[in-house]
Amino acid sequence: MDSLAPEAVEPLLTGRFGRPYVYRESCESTQLLLDPSLPEGAAAVAEEQTAGRGRLGRVWEATAGTSVLCSVLLRPPTERRFAELSLVAGIAAAEAVEGATELAAQIKWPNDVMLNRRKVAGILAEAREDVVVVGIGINVNQTRIELPPSPHTPAASLRTIDGRVHERAPLLAELLARLERAYDGWRHGGLDELYAGLGARDFLRGRRVSVDGTSGTAVQIDREGRLEIDAGGEHVLAESGDVAYER
Ligand code: BTN
Repeated sequence: MDSLAPEAVEPLLTGRFGRPYVYRESCESTQLLLDPSLPEGAAAVAEEQTAGRGRLGRVWEATAGTSVLCSVLLRPPTERRFAELSLVAGIAAAEAVEGATELAAQIKWPNDVMLNRRKVAGILAEAREDVVVVGIGINVNQTRIELPPSPHTPAASLRTIDGRVHERAPLLAELLARLERAYDGWRHGGLDELYAGLGARDFLRGRRVSVDGTSGTAVQIDREGRLEIDAGGEHVLAESGDVAYER
């Protein structure tokens, strides 16, 4: 098993994100390891979580040593919408996954990264005092039987998709560098700044969806991070929620 210990990852860091680098072999959730007084870009990483958190109160499960489990502390400007951070991190995760697999990744609004129509990464943004902790879980080297069952959005790992065992340290370093770049762009110009990368990777566009009672065809992710749905001619903007979609 490869390692995400500081000696494997810190030499690969190229920017401010990942400093300081808080590492645990096992913890409850990396979301809980970052004190709000730490500098922006501080990252917490673990090989295993005993109570990994997913969106909407769900759990995030991953066999020890198979994944990237990472949380990053951000201090976004007050004029930005914090909900957009899931998409900002989604772009960074999609880019990192594409770099590792040489396959095109997509972003399923509001927080999933998809490869070959399967979820390989999820994002959880949690606000705390004046900071936001953005958690990113990437399924990297799980075998098929190690993946948790997920009835709504089928799960995969990079390994089950491309058949290769991936080194996690370079993937994590790439993720942190991509996140820093996307976040800096967003701070400066909002989602507008990242829109080319987002629009081109929009997984739901053109699919039949249902979001918290609104059903229709997904038109696009708009420039404020909402999902525009054509519900029989009426255009509805979903701010957040749980999406059911037609595969
Ligand atoms: C989701 O798809 O529901 C979001 C999953 C987020 C999982 C990551 S793993 C690292 C960080 N720590 C957690 O407990 N959750 C996030």
